[in-house]
Amino acid sequence: MGESDPTVYLNGEYLPLSAARVPVLDRGFIFGDGVYEVIPVYDRRPFRLAEHLARLRHSLTGIRLDDPLGEAAWREVIARIASTAPWPDQGLYLQVTRGVAPRDHVFPRATPATVFVMPTHLTPPPAQHLQEGVAVISAEDNRWGRCDFKTTSLLANVLLRQLSADAGCAETLLIRAGELIEGSASSVFVVLEDTLLAPPKSNWMLPGVTYDMVLELAARHGFPHAVRPILEAEMRAASEIWLTSSTKEITPVVRLDGQPVGDGRPGPLFRRMHAAYQAFKQDVMRAGEAS
Ligand code: PDD
Repeated sequence: MGESDPTVYLNGEYLPLSAARVPVLDRGFIFGDGVYEVIPVYDRRPFRLAEHLARLRHSLTGIRLDDPLGEAAWREVIARIASTAPWPDQGLYLQVTRGVAPRDHVFPRATPATVFVMPTHLTPPPAQHLQEGVAVISAEDNRWGRCDFKTTSLLANVLLRQLSADAGCAETLLIRAGELIEGSASSVFVVLEDTLLAPPKSNWMLPGVTYDMVLELAARHGFPHAVRPILEAEMRAASEIWLTSSTKEITPVVRLDGQPVGDGRPGPLFRRMHAAYQAFKQDVMRAGEAS
């Protein structure tokens, strides 16, 4: 136990992270043959759990792996990890791989999946990011054709993210066939002529749980918004750009490829959406809802 050694779940057992072991022949290690989720937990309550579990099912179906636990058992494991973690706010990491088998590309038969759930300490985006915004770069999206599955095979995302890290930037925005898709580990929104724009869901992007929530809040609060393809030129002309994810919440972008976005400060629509998001989060948590 303790901050550096929280209790994790591995294949039916609860044990300290430092004692958790996976054999080297695990297909997650050998092939990156698995899927994952990152679920935010506030005050020990999972946020938007139903949506994260629905996306997990989508990813499992997508890689042709049976759900090893089922909805009720997932909820039980997640509740137990969230309640024993050393921090009230957590980013819950959950991973399922196709299990341990002799190395062969073909699926093994009757091999149990490897199931792992780990809490990490979730800290809110730094105040400086919210007040002053972050810088990003853009790059050509060279990932595979099923980015809608949240797979652990993240090498392309890792290499793309490192480009921005090397440039001292917070994220890499991905462009495919002249359209803005998402970030290497986040969804993206732009504001163009006072309208909030979101790229449409497709096989090229991860259907973000935070993305859905931002669109719900835009509808609820009457922000002009549209879901439609965003051309690279529109991205460069945008007055605001936001990143969203379960861990980043909503983060304003103020520089893109060295150029200021809008006036180079977080924009007015960001401030309103950020306030709406925080109020919504508080309401849900106060109501004690699990999702
Ligand atoms: N990443 N797009 C990509 C490629 C992502 O990896 C993520 C999240 C998102 C945002 O999805 P959501 O709002 O459901 O978190 C979009 C997580 C946080 C990660 O890999 O750590």
